[in-house]
Amino acid sequence: MSASAPWRLFFAIWPTPGIATLLNAWSRTAQVECGGRVALPANIHLTLAFLGDVSPGRVKRLAECGRRAGGAAHSLALEEARYWKHNRVVWAGPRAIPPALGALAEALNQELIAADFPTEAREFNAHVTLIRQARLPRMLPGLPTIVWPVSEMVLVRTQLSSTGSSYAMLERFALT
Ligand code: 2AM
Repeated sequence: MSASAPWRLFFAIWPTPGIATLLNAWSRTAQVECGGRVALPANIHLTLAFLGDVSPGRVKRLAECGRRAGGAAHSLALEEARYWKHNRVVWAGPRAIPPALGALAEALNQELIAADFPTEAREFNAHVTLIRQARLPRMLPGLPTIVWPVSEMVLVRTQLSSTGSSYAMLERFALT
């Protein structure tokens, strides 16, 4: 691969190991109902902005967008688990997006637009993908109470290999 090959990048929030363990345990119970591939605990995240391929030369500017977005620390309650038929994933999310999370996604989006990065036209849909390639479940088990303390955002690079995706944190942005 040449030095200037693009990097596949996204901004996300990453749960604490304790929350990732809870979500993974729930996913394995749900998998009995719907099959599919359960996300590894270390890979569980909520995407704030997906960039796709970016030239490595622009990563510095991208990180600046993350810093400029600011953002406040907050709690995120994961209250609902759902199945999306169109892409066959089971995911968990909040009933309503916490205002601080919505504001962070919006501020980040504005920074990305101002810096001429590609952004999603779709509205921000806060979700944590837990099972891929799942069948339609008859019923999903109830989620345990999960309150995620959100205190940082991360800029992440996806590395694809024959064994699946792995994620490398390029930069962390404290939310205060
Ligand atoms: P997903 O969990 O719904 O698959 C890394 O690929 C992250 O970016 C994933 O969390 C993925 O969401 C999200 N993402 C958003 N848009 C994407 C796209 N067009 N292609 C791949 N991943 C995308």
